[in-house]
Amino acid sequence: MRVLSGIQPTGRFHWGNYFGAIRQYIELQEVADEAFYFIANLHALTTIRDREQLQKNTLDAAIDLLALGLDPQKATLFVQSDVPEVCELTWLLMTVTPMGLLERCHAYKDKKARGLPADAGLFAYPVLMAADILAYDSDTVPVGEDQLQHIEVCRDLAGSFNAKFGETFVLPRAKIIEGAARVPGTDGEKMSKSYNNTLDIFEEPEILRKKIMRIVTDSRPIHEPKDPETDHLFQLYSLFASPAQREAMAARYRQGGFGYGEVKTALADLAIDYFAEARRRRAELEQKPELVLKILADGAKKARAKAAEVLLRAKKACGVQYCW
Ligand code: ADP
Ligand code: TRP
Repeated sequence: MRVLSGIQPTGRFHWGNYFGAIRQYIELQEVADEAFYFIANLHALTTIRDREQLQKNTLDAAIDLLALGLDPQKATLFVQSDVPEVCELTWLLMTVTPMGLLERCHAYKDKKARGLPADAGLFAYPVLMAADILAYDSDTVPVGEDQLQHIEVCRDLAGSFNAKFGETFVLPRAKIIEGAARVPGTDGEKMSKSYNNTLDIFEEPEILRKKIMRIVTDSRPIHEPKDPETDHLFQLYSLFASPAQREAMAARYRQGGFGYGEVKTALADLAIDYFAEARRRRAELEQKPELVLKILADGAKKARAKAAEVLLRAKKACGVQYCW
């Protein structure tokens, strides 16, 4: 199994990113024959236009992933823009990409529907993503459900390139992250940076506790029994609780006679404890930016070697390979 995934450095990672993506990357590094993970800064460039911000976010993302357990001995970690071969591959793929396919892709379609101006970068975003995947002969791409459409585009493009020019690319499969479902935010909607309802992994414990205490709940009286399964606070609690803790809390819900404040306190205790080790590792790594940059440089070197091999194969296949 050759695993690859990318994550955009558009802000600090939140619980949704962890339970919906990062945790699975870390689990897969143990079982994959090879695992490539990168920080998708070229994709982020379609939304972040502030140089310092993008640079800071990219380094922060690398530190976060390492602190959370991504192990450079087991997985190759790099920054997308450090592998220029991918951009060349994007062009080759662009020549077999029907306009209509990209017009149907949701990032572009949604922006257009809201009457916002979209640039060609956003329009071609799925082609760059296809190149990211194909450049490493990846066969397994762990992603959240929101990225499924993009994996289908990648398969389409790889298939039509192969049909026109002969077998060149490995057709990848999405590995939909199970059990991640949808992590709710502080307002009960899907947790997302865009909704300003996130609980961040590396938030200062005391600030995190305050944010948890402010999670929106319904106003049913204390004595009334409540259904745990439909409550977003319970869903959040379940992310961190052991099966026994979860069951005990569910029983409390069904009985009634407790306030949500009690669940919030229990959630804050569990969450702070859950990420304590990662927070400690993060503080250490923050003091050693040169070590993080070295890991990224080594990762990029390894990734480039593979991408160069695939790019050469693709250039030969379509007849654009000449002097080297
Ligand atoms: P955001 O919505 O905050 O901008 P991203 O789109 O950058 O987050 O998310 C990166 C990945 O993290 C997604 O592809 C998805 O797999 C996962 N993810 C994000 N939010 C959630 C959530 N609330 N629940 C489950 N997974 C999530
Ligand atoms: N588009 C993905 C996201 O927003 C990030 C990404 C870029 C990616 N290239 C990729 C994910 C290749 C998987 C494979 O979450």
